[in-house]
Amino acid sequence: MIVNKLKIKNFRNFKEETIDLNNSLNIFIGDNGQGKTNLMESIYLSSIGRTFRLNSENELINFKENKSCIEISMVKNNYNIKIELFLEKGKRKQVLVNGIKLDKTAEMIGILNNVIFTPDDMKIIKGSPIERRKFVNIDISQIKPKYKYLLNRYKKIITERNIILKNYYTKAENKDIINIWNDYLINTGFEIILFRNDYINKLKKYSVDIYKDISGNKEKLDLSYCCNIGSLDNKDNDRIKKMFNEKISMNFKQEVLRGTTLYGPHKDDIIIKIDGKECKYFGSQGQQRSAILSLKLAEIEIIKEEIGEYPILLLDDVMSELDNKRKGYLINYIKGIQTVITTTDDYDLNVLTKNYNKNIFYIDKGKISNITN
Ligand SMILES: Nc1ncnc2c1ncn2[C@@H]1O[C@H](COP(=O)(O)OP(=O)(O)OP(=O)(O)O)[C@@H](O)[C@H]1O
Ligand SMILES: [Mg+2]
Repeated sequence: MIVNKLKIKNFRNFKEETIDLNNSLNIFIGDNGQGKTNLMESIYLSSIGRTFRLNSENELINFKENKSCIEISMVKNNYNIKIELFLEKGKRKQVLVNGIKLDKTAEMIGILNNVIFTPDDMKIIKGSPIERRKFVNIDISQIKPKYKYLLNRYKKIITERNIILKNYYTKAENKDIINIWNDYLINTGFEIILFRNDYINKLKKYSVDIYKDISGNKEKLDLSYCCNIGSLDNKDNDRIKKMFNEKISMNFKQEVLRGTTLYGPHKDDIIIKIDGKECKYFGSQGQQRSAILSLKLAEIEIIKEEIGEYPILLLDDVMSELDNKRKGYLINYIKGIQTVITTTDDYDLNVLTKNYNKNIFYIDKGKISNITN
């Protein structure tokens, strides 16, 4: 999968820019606050339909304008695809794929596959389970269209079920209705669990070897799916459903008391260990960085395995965070993968990518110039 062209209009601090991307390496150099992350965000938005930042959608549009658009021209499985995203203040964004308007923005996920790596991703290691669930949710959604639908459905089920739990004793009919919602919860939750189990096993398969290489064969990474309803080891599908059922029945009083659903994949986590110790608590800064780098590179391989093509790799300002050995490893790894790198300091990068086919751009106050020589 290759993105050939990116056009942005009134997006963040950009006015109107058209960029021809190289199918291998694209380096964007600029000082702080010039628009490097904004540029990454425009590509990410065209892939996932949402920003990776905390801002509201109106803030994506240039402060002085009311409308913004992003246009991506790409080739996937030998097909030319054009993705257009229209943003307007106070209105819902619109997405067109090859000129056809999508009913929901979420439908665009999986067309332009991306893997993004930013310094902020350390939160996947250090942060709460929500961060790790978000990480796998976005990834699985990019390769399994059904998973997005299941997540949406599951969210609605939890909301409805919680309302019933909160009013369990005040409405007599709730005693019957709850059984229906228990079935919904278990059936949809079960499917999510299977997708996650499969994905985390794949993540493990790739990242363990990558980490081994990064650490020079000295340390061992381990990942495990901490499924909230219990361990899935050696259990067939019927046994997993039964286990979910038992959790719900055994803890039902507690759920009514608390007025909330206590068991299910909305409480899952992933445990990341290095040499048997949990990375979140015991890993050094460097080990945590290597772990996240291994996960990100594993993501790339899973997408390749699933869709037959590499995703576009977005590396926002991560070079400065890595030591020379890891920088070298990463640069070597991305050969053959279309990559966009942003950096404030191009010296190391120029040395490391000396023999690479690349485009180099300079970003200054939202103006992008191609300075490839
Ligand atoms: N809607 C908007 N309209 C105009 N400018 C905006 C908008 N949203 C953000 N900006 C500005 O865009 C600028 C560039 O932000 P960006 O995060 O892309 O910088 P950067 O080049 O990645 O910097 P750093 O190296 O510090 O990460 C910021 O100064 C910010 O104020
Ligand atoms: Mg930035």
